[in-house]
Amino acid sequence: MVHYFTDNWEKIQNFKARPDDILIATYPKAGTTWVSYILDLLYFSQTQPDRQTSTPLNDRVPFLEITIPNQSSGTDQADSLDTCPRLIKTHLPVQLIPKSFWEQKCRVVYVARNAKDNAVSYFHFDRMTCVQPEPGDWNSYLQRFIDGKMVFGSWYDHVTGWWEKKHSHPKIQYMFFEDMVEDTGREINKLCSFLGLTSTTKEKDQINNLVQFDNMKKNEMANYSTVKAMDFKISPFMRKGKVGDWRNHFTVAQNEQFDEDYKKKMKNTTLQFRTLV
Ligand code: A3P
Repeated sequence: MVHYFTDNWEKIQNFKARPDDILIATYPKAGTTWVSYILDLLYFSQTQPDRQTSTPLNDRVPFLEITIPNQSSGTDQADSLDTCPRLIKTHLPVQLIPKSFWEQKCRVVYVARNAKDNAVSYFHFDRMTCVQPEPGDWNSYLQRFIDGKMVFGSWYDHVTGWWEKKHSHPKIQYMFFEDMVEDTGREINKLCSFLGLTSTTKEKDQINNLVQFDNMKKNEMANYSTVKAMDFKISPFMRKGKVGDWRNHFTVAQNEQFDEDYKKKMKNTTLQFRTLV
């Protein structure tokens, strides 16, 4: 963890969730922004169309644990949201989620992304944002990823921890980035069923179009270009949005070491990611 996510710890842990809050939980770089935008459109594009052009997505969907000096903290932003439901995002591992989300039986949308692409995306993100530590070179970064020495901890613990929780908590929709890339419309339908939304086919088609990578990349309200803590000259936030980009980064030796370690770390879970052959 870095201080941007721990400075406000007491307020984060004592955060008062409301029963209709929707928590968007992810390991960083698994598709948080994508699913946040989809949910925001599903809930508010018909009733509050101005919201889409007047307010950046990161203000519409506060980041629970962030605290940047001289800016409103994530908890304060969430407290002052006047929407119903409130959409709130977090990267916290399941064991650190404020207990009121469980007490209030809030719905949770979790998105997981395969480890290799997730690591690559995180590496490029760490290069371009000042709220994360400097990533160093790719080889040592990958080793840190394997060792779980990352802000927000181990990818392996994160994705499996939330997967286990899903089995005891019926209100978790566990989604995969790869499924969203394969068929965004199908995943939007799954979200509608989970949330009990009755959006029309036309509305869902419009949303599907707006959330496609190229359209989101051009959309200043959704592409994070308004966020000062990121330097797009180093790497854009909407970077590639692909499945399998890891092949452009992993050497054969890195891949073999990664796969061997992966098997050991994931041997006790039923969670399966698509194999990337
Ligand atoms: P890449 O770095 O691989 O391009 P997060 O929002 O959790 O930080 O995740 C960011 C990752 O999701 C980035 O991955 C980004 O490009 C990708 N992403 C965001 N919106 C997307 C979309 N509409 N389609 C595909 N990928 C998307």
